Order: sequence, then C-alpha cells, then structure tokens
Amino acid sequence: MRRKIVAGNWKMNKTPSEAVALVNELKPLVESKDVDVVFCVPDIDIIPVVEAVKGTKIKIGAENMYFEENGAYTGEVSPNMLVDAGVTYVIVGHSERREHFAETNETVNKKVLKAFEHNLIPIICCGETLIQREQGVTIDFVRTQIKSAFARVPASNAKKAIIAYEPIWAIGTGKVATPEQAQEVCQEIRSCIRELYDDETADMIRIQYGGSVNADSAPFLFSQPDIDGGLVGGASLKTDFGRIVNYDRQLAYRI
Ligand code: 13P
Repeated sequence: MRRKIVAGNWKMNKTPSEAVALVNELKPLVESKDVDVVFCVPDIDIIPVVEAVKGTKIKIGAENMYFEENGAYTGEVSPNMLVDAGVTYVIVGHSERREHFAETNETVNKKVLKAFEHNLIPIICCGETLIQREQGVTIDFVRTQIKSAFARVPASNAKKAIIAYEPIWAIGTGKVATPEQAQEVCQEIRSCIRELYDDETADMIRIQYGGSVNADSAPFLFSQPDIDGGLVGGASLKTDFGRIVNYDRQLAYRI
C-alpha cells in the first residue's frame, strides 16, 4: 500500500515573513498520520520555513534546482545548498519552468540524476497541453516525458521518486481534470514505469495529480487507484490545504 503524499507548490508567492505566518497557520491543519505533507517554497523562504516546521512531520521542498554543485551559474541554486538548508524534495520540470525558463526533457533528466546523487527526492512533473489532449497524443507525449526523465536512473532510485501528472490546461485555470481523466493518465504512467523497470518499482513509485486541486475535488481524485496524492498550487496557500490533506475525512462525511 503506497502512502499518500500531498505537496503544496507555492510558486512565486510569499515573502519570508509571510511564509512563516502561513506555515504557522497551516501547521495544525495538516497533521495527518496517513499522508506525507510537503511545502515546496521559493528558495528565499526555505531557511525560515525549515525552522518553522521543526518538531512537525512536514517536509520542505524546493521548486527547482540546477544540475551542478557550484560554479559560475549566476542566479542558480545547487542540490547541496538545498540539502544543507534542510530540504528533502525538489520539484523538477514543472510546466511553468518548461514554458518560461527553457526547461527541456534533457535538463529535467540531468536534474533528476543530480537530485538522487544528493539524496533529494525529485517530484518530476509531466503533462500535456490542451491542444495535445484534443489531438489525442496525451499518452504518447507523457510517456516520452517519463522515459526521458528516468534515463539512466536505476530502479533503486526510481522507486523513491514522485511523479506529478499535471495537465497544463488544468493548472491555475479552475478546470480540474475529472478523476477518470487523471486516473487514465496516471495508470499509463505506472505502466510506463513497469516497462522501464519492474513490478516492484511500478508498485512503489508515487504518482500525484496536479491542476486546480481543491478541497472539493481532492477526495475523488486521491481515491483513484493510481493517484497517490496531489501537487497543489493555489489552494496550498490557503487553509483549504488542510482539508485537501485530510481528504479522507471529507470522503467519510460524504458517504
Ligand atoms: P494550481 O493548483 O494552482 O492549478 O497549480 C497546480 C500546479 O501547478 C502545482 O504544481
């Protein structure tokens, strides 16, 4: 049985003092014995947020990193810097980075390999555009992204990775994928991992859905057989995040 993992992606939101205030507000709401909870925050917020979650089970993630340890790469942050600051997870290949910052399948793969070298757990993002969905090429496109991201990654590391399926048309649009649409692609992603590796890796790897997840949709999405939690943008900046983490209690109320 895979443990659910719900991560907030704060994107470019919250100054360091605002970040600490938000963490202090969310801390009591996101306690769960069944769900791993991660806050992925802007680099400048990492150190104060790591401090603010001390004594809780919440883990901190970065939203990006570079694939070198140090050197003349003005403006970049390295995996060893993240580890030293207390980071556990790192988002790699978010569609916003692919679109605005020229992230490619190749750089995503380099970052995935580098993250594992430093014992950081990558949250590897994939997902199609609306045009690709309408053209019926979603599965091929996502499979290519996954195969490329996992190139030269051994099974021993692959099974620890998190994959976030985030259809681009659902991100920040309020247009959440139906549980069936999300399950279909997440199931394909797991099959792809099974082909690349083995049953054990495919059964262990955790696959999140992301794209306009909110407290109402989370229970239906997260109860799909191949969806192991969510990567949450906008709703992770609000108290709704607590309801998303505790989606199973909502499900109980509804039944
Ligand atoms: P929203 O939840 O705001 O749609 O963002 C999803 C996302 O991009 C998480 O990485």
